[in-house]
Amino acid sequence: MQVFHHVASLRDALAEARAAGKTIGFVPTMGNLHDAHIELVSLARQLCDLVVVSIFVNRLQFGLNEDWDKYPRTLERDMARLSAANCDFLFHPEESEIYPNGMDQQTRVVCPAMTDVLCGASRPGHFEGVTTVVAKLFNIVQPHKAIFGIKDFQQLAVIRRMVQDLCIPVEIVAAPVHREPDGLAMSSRNSYITADERPRAAILSQALNRTREQLQSGRRDFAALEEEGVRCIEDAGFRVDYFSVRNSHSLAPAAHDDTEITVLGAIYTSAARLIDNVSLEL
Ligand code: PAF
Repeated sequence: MQVFHHVASLRDALAEARAAGKTIGFVPTMGNLHDAHIELVSLARQLCDLVVVSIFVNRLQFGLNEDWDKYPRTLERDMARLSAANCDFLFHPEESEIYPNGMDQQTRVVCPAMTDVLCGASRPGHFEGVTTVVAKLFNIVQPHKAIFGIKDFQQLAVIRRMVQDLCIPVEIVAAPVHREPDGLAMSSRNSYITADERPRAAILSQALNRTREQLQSGRRDFAALEEEGVRCIEDAGFRVDYFSVRNSHSLAPAAHDDTEITVLGAIYTSAARLIDNVSLEL
């Protein structure tokens, strides 16, 4: 695996690969890689000739009181895992390489409406940070396909919208949620869950699955289903940020005639914020 710290050297190497007719698959990450990230790399490996992974803990998408400084940096271990997964290029830039004029001066990409709801309501500015860095990374790498985990459903929907609105020539590929045996969706932030909370943490995925079953069995009383989901999670001892039935594309509250629906949830353990979702076609 070749490691690049600078945009120019990465671009030179990618230009050679492109000239040789290779297709480029891209997996953007913030590092602290776990099995779900490796699944994204494997999917890129299956779909494309050359696999590029970026590791960049993007301060622009963290709120002032969020965990940017304590976000785990595990570069040595990440590099070993990426090499074992046959990643070709790792892009690991310094902040000054991505934001050479400083973050305050950085031109931003804003995707309205879809970004101030759900996770965006409790994380103001988060999605603007995500779309800005992902647009930059897409321009740097210019991949044929970019792979994102479906666990971050809102992020995936926002990036799809950005790519469509800005005519960015990349195919966005959604990879399924990778789960622990009890159903807990894998996440870098699972390392913050305490041993005491861990056996109960799968309640979010259980509540989502129960809501999916209810929808499949014909219920359309969305508000009541949301309340039931919240109660079930609170009974397990966690605070709920949101538990919401939405249109899968616009992320607007689900309407009775919607055919593609996603139920999204976010909960707080004592030190972690966990998100998960289930999608269904009606
Ligand atoms: O999902 C993530 O890890 C980040 O939001 C991303 C897409 C790498 C942008 O920083």
